[in-house]
Amino acid sequence: MDLVIKFNLFQQYQFEAVIHLAAESHVDRSIASPLDFIYTNIVGTANLLNAARAIWADNMNDKRFYHISTDEVYGALGATGAFVETTPYAPHSPYSASKASSDHLVRAYHDTFGMPNVISNCSNNYGPNQFPEKLIPLFINNILHNKPLPVYGQGLNVRDWLYVEDHAKAIDVIFHKGKNGETYNIGGNNEWKNIDLIKNLIQIMDEELGRPEGTSLALITYVKDRAGHDLRYAIDATKLKTELGWEPSIKFTEGFRLTVKWYLNNEQWLKNVTSGNYQKYYEAMYGNR
Ligand code: TYD
Repeated sequence: MDLVIKFNLFQQYQFEAVIHLAAESHVDRSIASPLDFIYTNIVGTANLLNAARAIWADNMNDKRFYHISTDEVYGALGATGAFVETTPYAPHSPYSASKASSDHLVRAYHDTFGMPNVISNCSNNYGPNQFPEKLIPLFINNILHNKPLPVYGQGLNVRDWLYVEDHAKAIDVIFHKGKNGETYNIGGNNEWKNIDLIKNLIQIMDEELGRPEGTSLALITYVKDRAGHDLRYAIDATKLKTELGWEPSIKFTEGFRLTVKWYLNNEQWLKNVTSGNYQKYYEAMYGNR
């Protein structure tokens, strides 16, 4: 494994800021290949921090290293409550443990080396261009092709969903106005039980595809639960709203419909990303259904 740190790009372009979004992000893949997550998310973040530190060492004042993270670092909630920025970290999957670890490294570089760092932890994103390993694009693709919809466990887990453009706007605000050394939670205030979200998706898909209402409900297939499956995530984004003035702007009904339409209008994109290695992933994950 190549752990050599390469500063070339930083030296060449003298970046003044880094917005670090690059990560392995799918929990199921982290269960199948934990080391990929440790290498990309932990070692990768450490490499970026080192590269930034090497070129910023003389004057860090006007620089910024912004790490984009996940609400999954906080672990799982019961039926009530929401994660705040001071909720203790309690990750359960190799994915969330790797993101927790990279958050700690970012804080350590702030505290130890005075690097001007900021972190945000966001809830589940949905929208165009999301790889169909994640629930919503995977199920859109399956409904389109009349394939079974693998619902983990009883579909009772709860997630908070945020439209991707709202996340992008939050990142813009935090990047320009956030305080160094601070963490900001980003959420959609939009909790859904998986099975309710899936039934809503089926309704929209049947409508958009001109199928009689409820046709695709027959595709719902309950499968073995994900190992260590977190029951519920919910975000309290009060800090971001009161300190920096951000709140979600796109209603779920609007964003969800836009999302479905985007995938239906971009079938070639879907075809491209679901060819090749995707087939192998799908078979290993869900069997050859
Ligand atoms: P996912 O999109 O993988 O996001 P995360 O695990 O980071 O929240 O999954 C969202 C929810 O949907 C989660 O509770 C797991 C569930 N899920 C299924 O039931 N079936 C699936 O095939 C997938 C991918 C997810």
